[in-house]
Amino acid sequence: MSTADSWWRDAVIYQVYPRSFADTNGDGVGDLAGISERLPYLRELGVDALWFSPWYPSPMADAGYDVADYRDIDPVFGTIGEAERLIADAHAADLRVVIDIVPNHCSDAHPWFVEALAAGPGSPQRQRFWFRPGRGEHGELPPTDLQSIFGGPAWTRVADGEWYLHLFAAQQPDFNWANPEVRAEFLDVLRVWLDRGVDGIRIDSAAVLVKNLDQPGEWSYTDLDGVHEIYRDWRALTDTYPGDRVLIGEVWLPDHQRFAAYLRPDELHAAFNFEFLCCPWDADLLRAAIDESLLAHAPVSAPASWVLSNHDVTRTVSRFGRTDSAFSFPDRQRRQGLPLDLELGTRRARAAALLCLALPGAAYLYQGEELGLWEVEDIPEQLLQDPMYHRSNGTDPGRDGCRVPLPWSGVEPPFGFTTSTPWLPQPMGWKDLTVEAQSGDPHSMLELYRLALRIRAAESGLGDGALRWLDAPDGVLAFAREPGFACVVNLSDVAVALPPHESVLLASQPLDTTLLPPDTAAWLRT
Ligand code: GLC
Ligand code: CA
Repeated sequence: MSTADSWWRDAVIYQVYPRSFADTNGDGVGDLAGISERLPYLRELGVDALWFSPWYPSPMADAGYDVADYRDIDPVFGTIGEAERLIADAHAADLRVVIDIVPNHCSDAHPWFVEALAAGPGSPQRQRFWFRPGRGEHGELPPTDLQSIFGGPAWTRVADGEWYLHLFAAQQPDFNWANPEVRAEFLDVLRVWLDRGVDGIRIDSAAVLVKNLDQPGEWSYTDLDGVHEIYRDWRALTDTYPGDRVLIGEVWLPDHQRFAAYLRPDELHAAFNFEFLCCPWDADLLRAAIDESLLAHAPVSAPASWVLSNHDVTRTVSRFGRTDSAFSFPDRQRRQGLPLDLELGTRRARAAALLCLALPGAAYLYQGEELGLWEVEDIPEQLLQDPMYHRSNGTDPGRDGCRVPLPWSGVEPPFGFTTSTPWLPQPMGWKDLTVEAQSGDPHSMLELYRLALRIRAAESGLGDGALRWLDAPDGVLAFAREPGFACVVNLSDVAVALPPHESVLLASQPLDTTLLPPDTAAWLRT
């Protein structure tokens, strides 16, 4: 790991989705003991930090993003003692630890929400959430027409007739951040985990905490100015801790200036770059996304954070294997039905990995990306769990397809993930993508990532810093990182000459000549 201060400015952060990582007690669900057991794998891969998706007690209405107790661990994953050991073991293996905090909403099983229901209309307990009377003669209509991000109305009616707000599933009531009790509670939750030694906090749905329900539609919650005050308080707290503790925001905002405002020096340290993630396999659009992102980060002196995938979006090899290779939630259903060339998608994903890891700043890697796993698009309907699928009445295929448990070893499911039946079924075709099958195979995705991460750590020009675009033919991205490094990615459909160089450090496909074939990237010593 980068031992210097500001490790987060150029770290490679690996997202662990605990349910799907490794199961040790044979219940078909990944657990903390499974992560502990596989720390050597993560260390060998060469990442600097681990981000754990939520591991808290939860009814799992949204795979743990519905939190019932922010200070504890769900028994399906383990115990608080195991979490503390995992943090210590990760540190001993030179890996930083980032946890996932969900401040916009909790679970309907959270004691505060249970108390609010019992206390009734007008009670201070209800002021911690957004309770409102309904419209219509008998209050039978929701207070506003606001729609949930997961589909369907954003309001649900309770037995006494009031309605409560939930931007996501009905089991995820939104907190009222105008209430000082909510603010104090989260500062305390942050303290608890910072005291337990975590190095960073990934903030779920970071831009939607503050509400003004008089405004129409998504303007009632997206990026209201008051949200910055919350992060100033959080930053003031993290700054009181020794070491370099960081706040990383999940901020989906199209406006670069508004996005960068979250990264001012007294707010968050970093935020995911979703424009890059959503970008199709197109040289001009990627270059524009890279330039705009670097331009937006510069004035606030924050590092850019490059992301190709996570637990919410289509797996990279599937996305890049389609003619229409952009990602967006509204179009996901339509794209999922289109023809898919996995070989092409994998080839592009390999090139994209080298692009992503050569750009200035930090990079995020979602578990399974290093194995080249594809989106599982044929999970039987009765096994689908994602509320996005259910609340949209199947209009959105949901996110289960990128959450299928990892294949570790063996030639058939469960591929060493568990001794029983994995919580989502794994495809037979993953027999060639197991960690075991790929280890030692120089042409595998896993060995490409291992090598790329090793080179990235050794090259002083990579990570934080600046890039300089080099002249390149149409459809080709070429940039220099000083000292002595260049990355070239060919997104056109003809082979192109490599720019002058001393040697090839790494290429995403074998190179026989000094020509770079289509859908291939190379790292050069210049
Ligand atoms: C974030 C998470 C997603 C979750 C949602 C609600 O977008 O990444 O998985 O469903 O917030 O918490
Ligand atoms: Ca388990």
